Amino acid sequence: MATTTLKGQPFDRPILDSMLRRRMFYTPSFEIYGGTAGLYDYGPPGCALQANIVDLWRKHFVLEEDMLEVDCTSLTPAEILKTSGHVDKFADWMCKDPKNGEIIRADHFVEEVLEARLKGDKEARGVTVEEKEADPKKKKKKGKATEAVKLEDAVVKEYESILAQIDNYNGEELGHLIKKWELKNPTTGVEPLPPVAFNLMFQTTIGPSSNAPGYLRPETAQGQFLNFAKLLEFNQQQMPFASASIGKSFRNEISPRAGLLRVREFLMAEIEHYVDPEGGKKHSRFHEVQDVELVLLNRDTQLAGQTKVEKVAIGKAVADGIVDNETLGYFLARIHLFLNKIGVDQSKIRFRQHMANEMAHYAADCWDAELQTSYGWIECVGCADRSAYDLTVHAKKTGAPLMVRQKLETPISITEWEVELNKKLFGPQFKKDGKAVEAAIIALSQEQRESLAPTLSQDGKITVEVAGVGNGKVELSKDLLVIEQRTRVENIREYTPNVIEPSFGIGRILYCLFEHNYWTRASDGGDEARCVLSFPPTVAPTKVLLVPLSGHESFKPLLKYMSLKLRSLGVSSRVDDSSASIGKRYSRNDELGTPLGITIDFQSVNDKTYTLRDRDSTKQVRADEETILAAIKSLVEGAKVWADIEKELPAFESQEADLAVR
Ligand code: ATP
Ligand code: GLY
Repeated sequence: MATTTLKGQPFDRPILDSMLRRRMFYTPSFEIYGGTAGLYDYGPPGCALQANIVDLWRKHFVLEEDMLEVDCTSLTPAEILKTSGHVDKFADWMCKDPKNGEIIRADHFVEEVLEARLKGDKEARGVTVEEKEADPKKKKKKGKATEAVKLEDAVVKEYESILAQIDNYNGEELGHLIKKWELKNPTTGVEPLPPVAFNLMFQTTIGPSSNAPGYLRPETAQGQFLNFAKLLEFNQQQMPFASASIGKSFRNEISPRAGLLRVREFLMAEIEHYVDPEGGKKHSRFHEVQDVELVLLNRDTQLAGQTKVEKVAIGKAVADGIVDNETLGYFLARIHLFLNKIGVDQSKIRFRQHMANEMAHYAADCWDAELQTSYGWIECVGCADRSAYDLTVHAKKTGAPLMVRQKLETPISITEWEVELNKKLFGPQFKKDGKAVEAAIIALSQEQRESLAPTLSQDGKITVEVAGVGNGKVELSKDLLVIEQRTRVENIREYTPNVIEPSFGIGRILYCLFEHNYWTRASDGGDEARCVLSFPPTVAPTKVLLVPLSGHESFKPLLKYMSLKLRSLGVSSRVDDSSASIGKRYSRNDELGTPLGITIDFQSVNDKTYTLRDRDSTKQVRADEETILAAIKSLVEGAKVWADIEKELPAFESQEADLAVR
């Protein structure tokens, strides 16, 4: 008899993987050509599951918060990603193996070798080590298996400390660790060469000419930022507000692996919430979530070389300054609630704060929602405080006013260094460069203006840096501009909003749902494990399986009738009228995660009553058509759970005698 795997317990990943492929949740792209690493296609149940997750995401965030959804292009001119910092900084560290030319991601390599040594140490000490699954971040080596070698206690401590802050090292530091600890590629037995930066963006040209370089976007965020002024106008200048976008992003990962967890093209759902930086970034709905408890792993703990988490209400975490502000805290709680709603195991969620070096170039603070899987803790949602970084750099580059103008109730008097251009002379002198020069002057800070003012009056000219014009420096004589300190009374306050950004990788979340909802039933007699995916009815790819008791002609009209009825309610269903036993047919659909089943039997033909079966308990109830349909609707909308239905409707026992229970 096959052994059972309980939900949430360690399981045999190859069995799950092969079931997911067999049922076509997903499949390697271009497989008959040998496949391409990091590229996957979703089949029918994968598509339906993804669509349901996205639908719930839209309801939970976009509808609930009146967010402004946009759909921007993936192809992005190089200039934009240069300005955003991605061309220069969106990179991972890679090493080359000098012996076989293998390219290795540096941080994953260090992590893998140190973990293998720690495992060897445990074995040498006689500590039983559970066979840990390969981390997606690491490459599975064909080389020698772990050697049982005892390490000094101090070395063990140091390795553990390095691992706790592995995401915080830059290329130089990783190179230093490789040298210091003589980390060798298990495949070749040699140390890899020092790490070099590898930009993760796919480059292309837009149009036939090579003069228009572009990239496939690595995030949906930039399109949202560039539409900021129009969205603010659409929102009738009201702040705060958020934009949202769901779309594909592309990253040329150095070594994609672990199925859907690290791929080169993936669906992202991102929110850019614009908030006034003054007043502590409060959120008007924070009180609604303040009691939500989150498991937090903060930056200081990791820097101390530890991974100890604490469970704390988000209200307290913000009050204690662990999470910087209410808006960031609000979204962390909302992310938690969303993950919970779609069927992520609550006990397998933690929020990990980024360490300084790990943070993306634009971020001021960042917390990742990580989900526990057989591959380790995986970042599935990043929630960053991007401050005013993006709007500022794009405004500076283009001169576009990416800011908010707020009417003040009490006018204020402001003394500032102002620059006034002599437009009559300015245009003819700089011609096509005029816009860039003007933007550079406007972007001068108060400090720069203060120091340039005396130079202009004493020397009669100043030099200003203007990227892309001449040699990058432009001389301006005093007939072209005036710089002086002036006092003015303002009725309007202008500011650049800060951005809090929750960024969801839908594919990673979808994969975690597989693992968190997977279990197997004992089967009577057979040695085959019967896999079940216990998705909540709200996200399950298909909601109802319709099974006739047999191929008897009298069942056919009812099958058709019930399919149409369900369709008219917006509930997806599938008919299985194959000749397999009822138990087998249900079992097949348990693998697809179908939560409900209707059996049509001879009694149905006589009195139009049906049995409704629950996938997880295999329990059944029986009632008339209207009652059964109402029960299904309430379950797939999440208004009720099976326990409610069992209390309300009479139990039915039969038909499924051949299907073993848990
Ligand atoms: P990692 O450190 O794992 O590479 P990241 O820090 O680069 O992730 P972000 O830049 O924060 O990830 O991206 C936002 C979200 O996009 C992530 O939380 C994740 O869900 C998703 N994501 C990023 N890279 C990939 C990828 N290669 N494959 C699938 N999803 C991804
Ligand atoms: N937009 C968030 C990220 O790409 O990391």
